[in-house]
Amino acid sequence: MSQNVLRRRRLQISNPAEMSTPRKQKFCEKGMCLFVILVAVVAGIVAVCVVTLTDKDLRQRVPSPPRLEWWKTTIIYQIYPRSFQDSNGDGTGDLKVVTKRLDYLQELGVGTLWLSPFYKSPMRDFGYDVQNYTQVDPLFGTMDDFDVLMKEAKKRGLRVLVDFVPNHTSNESSWFNNSRHSIGKYRDYYIWDDGVNCSTCPDTNFKMPPNDWKSAFRGSAWTYDDNRKQFYYHAYLDSQPDLNASNPDVKQELKNVLRFWLEKGVDGFRGDAIRKLFEFEDVHRNENGVLNLTRNLPGVYPVMREWKHFLDKYSHGKGQEKILIAESYGITNEMRDAYYEVDSIPFNFAFVQKLNPSCKARCIKQIIETSLDGLKEEWWPNFVLGSHDVSRIASRMGDSFVNVLNILLLTVPGTPTTYYGEEIGMKDTFYTYSESRDPAGLNYKEDYLKYSRDPGRSPMQWDSYTNAGFSNGTPWLHVNLNYPVLNVEEQLSKETSTLNIYESLAKLRQLPSFTNKNIIFSTVNDNIISYVRSESGHPKYLVVLNVGSRDSVVDCSGPPLGVSSAQVVLAAGSSLLGMSSYRMGDSADLQAIHLKSAEGVIFKI
Ligand code: GLC
Repeated sequence: MSQNVLRRRRLQISNPAEMSTPRKQKFCEKGMCLFVILVAVVAGIVAVCVVTLTDKDLRQRVPSPPRLEWWKTTIIYQIYPRSFQDSNGDGTGDLKVVTKRLDYLQELGVGTLWLSPFYKSPMRDFGYDVQNYTQVDPLFGTMDDFDVLMKEAKKRGLRVLVDFVPNHTSNESSWFNNSRHSIGKYRDYYIWDDGVNCSTCPDTNFKMPPNDWKSAFRGSAWTYDDNRKQFYYHAYLDSQPDLNASNPDVKQELKNVLRFWLEKGVDGFRGDAIRKLFEFEDVHRNENGVLNLTRNLPGVYPVMREWKHFLDKYSHGKGQEKILIAESYGITNEMRDAYYEVDSIPFNFAFVQKLNPSCKARCIKQIIETSLDGLKEEWWPNFVLGSHDVSRIASRMGDSFVNVLNILLLTVPGTPTTYYGEEIGMKDTFYTYSESRDPAGLNYKEDYLKYSRDPGRSPMQWDSYTNAGFSNGTPWLHVNLNYPVLNVEEQLSKETSTLNIYESLAKLRQLPSFTNKNIIFSTVNDNIISYVRSESGHPKYLVVLNVGSRDSVVDCSGPPLGVSSAQVVLAAGSSLLGMSSYRMGDSADLQAIHLKSAEGVIFKI
């Protein structure tokens, strides 16, 4: 049947005026018409009065908070596909299994998946060196696998974000190959320079890089290309040449990449290494270890704005907004504000960068305050606890603190991001130098433990069977030895497990009192941080967390609450030692809240 016929049929059925015309005529013929209209008008007036009263009354008692965009109430869950689960025994995770795990993720209560790159790549930086932006690397599966994943995610109401890597490509991409050979428009796709003569070398014609800019992965950020007889700039590996973000053709290419994935139905993007998009124009200036000529330069913002506008074209109404989240490390609050003008949210890495064992309650309070400070009405906060680039929170802060930190992440204002495995409190895994895979570590043989990101990328621990249920083959990185006791299956069966606490938190944070920007701190001492989340017309919630190493007692009955008792709605003990002394549903005395180290409780007022 043609589309037109179908459309017409639907129009016919959905046109009630057309359908009811004959009956109306009969009615009026019987002389009832005037009477019916009169009754209808009177009934209408009465109904309006009743509805207005009820509505007003309701609004006074239970005012509903403004309906928020989906990304403001969701939890983002980062999947590093190569470490999530492997379906074909090659030791590397793949997209097929992500689809199989959607039920798990839905149960967990996370609403949005962010997939780290799964695009065609030589994998020198494990996918962050993209060879082709619109192909799936066979290691991860096929485009069909991705389409199925999207379809199944949508069915479950899950959103999908993909990684967008605009700063650099792989040196094996066709763009770079064409650029090395100065072919047509590709000539200026990257940042090329002749370099300078080496005045102190025996051969003074010997070429040196044009400046002292450093690669994030060690050494000069410039590599000489024998074909082109010029240096190219790379903020990361020499196999990750930086694109020339000022070039209009490059800009168009990148928009095409966005378009491709938007048309596949993704809900948005995490923008990789955004702060490195632009470099100082005069490449003959040195940074001398003090200047910043390569990070968060103002050119970043107009480009981001263009992408944001582009995404807006695909945001077809409420619930369909497409988002852009910038990876934005090391930014000042001023830069944060500039990012807010041009993306949905810039990732807030304050917890990632500032939480450490000596950062206790007051320090955490300050992190929260600084993160929220000066946010304009329309800007939405967010917090991130971990990622594929840093050590896991259990290892950074001590494994007993995973529960309290998950409570913190999921109860402070804004969108939280959880890195895979942190819902069960996975720890960093030790790898010898020869077992290491991350170039950031391999480039520092003598100091690889300091730089390697492998420890936080070990395979997801699903169960206590071979390789933690990650793979039947040999995992690309071996699993953590603690997997027989620390895994999803084990935790599903224990009511007080880190996983079950995470699930309860995910449900709780959907309540209006948590999905707004209000936070009022209650008592904060050396060990304990406590705060109130509220929404007018809804119950208030008091969150009390012992982030210190000693047991402590606090009185939270004073301002801002002014109540002496409340009901426990969530209680979590240390992730290592288990049980809290508080029980769900119990009424508790707020004048003396006793919390052991790493214990956290949420009370409903
Ligand atoms: C981002 C990624 C990191 C990668 C780098 C280069 O910082 O998070 O994993 O190595 O960009 O693409």
